[in-house]
Amino acid sequence: MLILGIETSCDETAASVVRSGREILSNIVFSQIKTHAKTGGVVPEVAGREHAVKIVPVIKKTLKEAKITLAEIDAIAVTQGPGLQTSLLTGVNAANILAMVLKKPLIPVNHVEGHIYANFINSDQWPVISDQPNFPIVVLTASGGHNELILWLDHGKYKFLGSTLDDAAGEAFDKVGRLLDLPYPGGPFIEKLAKKGDPKVFPLPLPYPKTFNFSFSGIKTAVLYLIRDITNGNKRKLTAKERACIAASFQKVMCEVLARKLILAAEKYKAKEIHLAGGVSANSALREKIVVMVRPLDNLRAGSAHHDRGKPIFRFPHLSLCTDNAAMVATAGFFKFSKSPGKYENSAPVIPDPNLKIKNW
Ligand code: KG4
Ligand code: ZN
Repeated sequence: MLILGIETSCDETAASVVRSGREILSNIVFSQIKTHAKTGGVVPEVAGREHAVKIVPVIKKTLKEAKITLAEIDAIAVTQGPGLQTSLLTGVNAANILAMVLKKPLIPVNHVEGHIYANFINSDQWPVISDQPNFPIVVLTASGGHNELILWLDHGKYKFLGSTLDDAAGEAFDKVGRLLDLPYPGGPFIEKLAKKGDPKVFPLPLPYPKTFNFSFSGIKTAVLYLIRDITNGNKRKLTAKERACIAASFQKVMCEVLARKLILAAEKYKAKEIHLAGGVSANSALREKIVVMVRPLDNLRAGSAHHDRGKPIFRFPHLSLCTDNAAMVATAGFFKFSKSPGKYENSAPVIPDPNLKIKNW
């Protein structure tokens, strides 16, 4: 089954063709990062306009690369939300019209669910060792807009364990990136800078609410005050070494909290698998931290899934699939469609929902 996935929830215009929810035939992502770097963050109206410029070329390119025609597509999956209304509209409109003209099933996909399903995409560089998920699974979604701990009981069956009380982890990376004068989005730049720093030089408090919830706004304020103290009330600039040590310290506490809560939840709910999903799962320090907690380090490079002495399998997506893309949307769409195909034939147009929550299906 060939699914055309379309994703425009934030600042990436993306389209992809995926066969049977596993095999990527093409995966085109046009990132607006350069545009938004100028303003240090996403301006919704600007993002919306950029999607309108790119959506048709991106869809054309993905079909060309997959060497298929629109007529050969079996269904269309599109991100319905959550995201920016002005961004979602472009993808949803394109999908609604394509489905109507081509008379194909149309599957609305929750963006966060898309991130979760990215763990099941197979590729030569990233063979998924165990094809079938072993439920129950504990998933940590951590991106620019989402930060949740989810107990995944079966396809379409979720129980929410906790979420952020304020900022999402990616948002905290981006805000601290700004404090350190790093380009947008801060996450990958903090990771790079942290490699040159020593986290012990400027220790930061661990933002650790007692429940499975998270809270990251305090850590951003702690970094702000730390910079003010080091620079004597911003009278001078931070040195390169100081910036690197702050980045290392910030990344350390972030990874510590995310990893600890994920493992605690996995233990409490006897999870057979542990998954990372969303942009922050690209962070190698976070992956390594979890790996150390679930199994020895030397297995790290063998692939995305491992079974080690009865410990849970740990999956994280290939780097190219951690941040926003449409292959993950097509894959989530495939699993939804497979469960109840009739539901998506001649369905009503998809209406974007900026605050869409994950629902059971
Ligand atoms: O999933 P995503 O592309 O978009 C949303 O759905 O939000 O995630 C983007 C977020 C940004 O906040 C970015 O800073 C963060 O993921 N991110 C990272 C890394 N790569 C991306 N955070 C930490 N370390 C990284 N290597
Ligand atoms: Zn995302």
